[in-house]
Amino acid sequence: MKKIICTISLIAVVIITLHAQVLQNAYGRHCTSLNGKWQVIVDPFNNGAGSWKPVWKDQHPTGNNDFYEYAFTNNITLEVPGDWNHQKPELKYYESTVWYKKTFVAKPAVSKKYFLYFGAVNYQCDVYINNEYAGSHEGGFTPFQFDITGKLKDTNSVIVRVNNQRRADNIPAMNYDWWNYGGITRDVMVIETPATYISDYSIGLAKDSCNTIKGWVQLAGDNITQPVAIQIAQLHINTNVTPSADGRAWFSIAAKPALWQPGNAKLYKLVIQSADDAVTDNIGFRTVAVNGTDILVNGKAVFLKGINIHEEIPQQQRRAWSAADARQLLLQAKELGCNFVRLTHYSHNEHMVRLADSLGIMLWEEVPLWQNIQFTNPAILNKADTMLKEMITRDKNRCAIILWSVSNETSPSSARNRVLTAMANFVRSMDDTRLVTSAINDAHVEGNSVTINDSLCNALDVIGVNQYLGWYVPWTAKPADMIWHSTYNKPLIMSEFGAESLYGNHGSANSNGYWAEEREEQVYKDQIAMFKNIPFLRGTCPWILADFRSETRLQPVYQQGWNRKGLLSDKGQKKKAWYVMHDYYTGR
Ligand code: GCU
Repeated sequence: MKKIICTISLIAVVIITLHAQVLQNAYGRHCTSLNGKWQVIVDPFNNGAGSWKPVWKDQHPTGNNDFYEYAFTNNITLEVPGDWNHQKPELKYYESTVWYKKTFVAKPAVSKKYFLYFGAVNYQCDVYINNEYAGSHEGGFTPFQFDITGKLKDTNSVIVRVNNQRRADNIPAMNYDWWNYGGITRDVMVIETPATYISDYSIGLAKDSCNTIKGWVQLAGDNITQPVAIQIAQLHINTNVTPSADGRAWFSIAAKPALWQPGNAKLYKLVIQSADDAVTDNIGFRTVAVNGTDILVNGKAVFLKGINIHEEIPQQQRRAWSAADARQLLLQAKELGCNFVRLTHYSHNEHMVRLADSLGIMLWEEVPLWQNIQFTNPAILNKADTMLKEMITRDKNRCAIILWSVSNETSPSSARNRVLTAMANFVRSMDDTRLVTSAINDAHVEGNSVTINDSLCNALDVIGVNQYLGWYVPWTAKPADMIWHSTYNKPLIMSEFGAESLYGNHGSANSNGYWAEEREEQVYKDQIAMFKNIPFLRGTCPWILADFRSETRLQPVYQQGWNRKGLLSDKGQKKKAWYVMHDYYTGR
């Protein structure tokens, strides 16, 4: 039986991967934005997907006996990109279906191809172009596109059914500790390419070498063996390559680029030119490796002075999605003294990773396998692999990313280890130039010892440990006396730690029960005292940059639907604990 399931899941993976893969560097293409006001229909019981009220047909009464109990009008609209929760009070807690419609004009050319591109839609969607089904997508944090060549007219409509209901076999599943923002939450574009186009490329320093730039370019369309030029003018590189019959051309070019460094971001302008197409990108060159318990960037050991960030602008209680939002969040991280950011608990929008490239901030990026995942369900590995594939496909050329993470706080089991180990190996098959990690939360605390003993660590390059000593777990000895034990000769990142406080609320430094800033401050002082005793610690990531929305946080005075573990308040004000971490980072 087990063998049959594996075969089925392999077939399913093949089917899923045959799905439309997004263009590499979508923003570097000929794009027509569909951002702005979309007409919407709120459909709590999914009536619109049935035959009685097929909303996607967008019908209008013609004869006297016609009537339709739905219509897209300007009476109710939503801004795209944007979650619906913050745009209408009645949608604050809404977890079901909203239908979106956008009309746009086009001048489709016979010699061109057209793609309808979504930066992300949370959680599941079905897409129709001119009332014809174009495709569906599951997963709230990765881009997808549909080939709409030949379907465009002078005037067009896109209708999207978006559903953000939580399901036990979703990723993430149920009751996760961040707001279930639903909607078309990132950019939407119509992308035009030549008939033969550059669909994808990968470029970087050869693994463990600073003198060779290698990679590949993939052509798609009609004539996929036309020659391609790889140009980096600043390095005097102008190399012609010829794709093989499958349209892929590999290259390896001797070069000595100035290396991208944390805090000193050197990016080169790359131009990839084929007979019919051209794409420009900004690429940084660096190597990443582990050596025993050290993390090496460009062969030098680094300490990751990090912070966890959710994709949220707390001041407006909304999903972050824009370049301006990315600037707010990453500049707040820089102000704290960070050289590293963990993008929790899902891949963030492309503006975030591209800005990190430019600012010289290293990144940990992850898929949303958060806590209670159905690892015994064969469909889960397929969904998880699809999310990994979509995340790595989009961001594989972003030098800021040094770590891919396969999960957060999943309970140890043979099924969990089997799935996550397969995912770790899948990551390496797609990208062997970065490190694989995961955040575990089962380090064993007893007396003055903390022991890392989770067999998942065998599959990881770097171990992430989430622990809340001083908050969820009382100290079992003086913090400075705590000794950490690990049998894995691997680097440790303290991927989460912290406590809650309400900004401006003051009280005892020793009591958790009143959300005093002084308590959060003391927990950070105690954690730092403990860090000094961990010889294999190579990074710290406080949980979390800013207070963030969570339906699970019910305390009516101090929380009010907010998780208050921010070093910043929801208004961006610095709590006492912020200064403790700032001094730790600037003093290292
Ligand atoms: C966990 C989890 C976070 C959560 C945090 C908390 O470690 O990874 O997503 O928000 O704890 O309880 O605040």
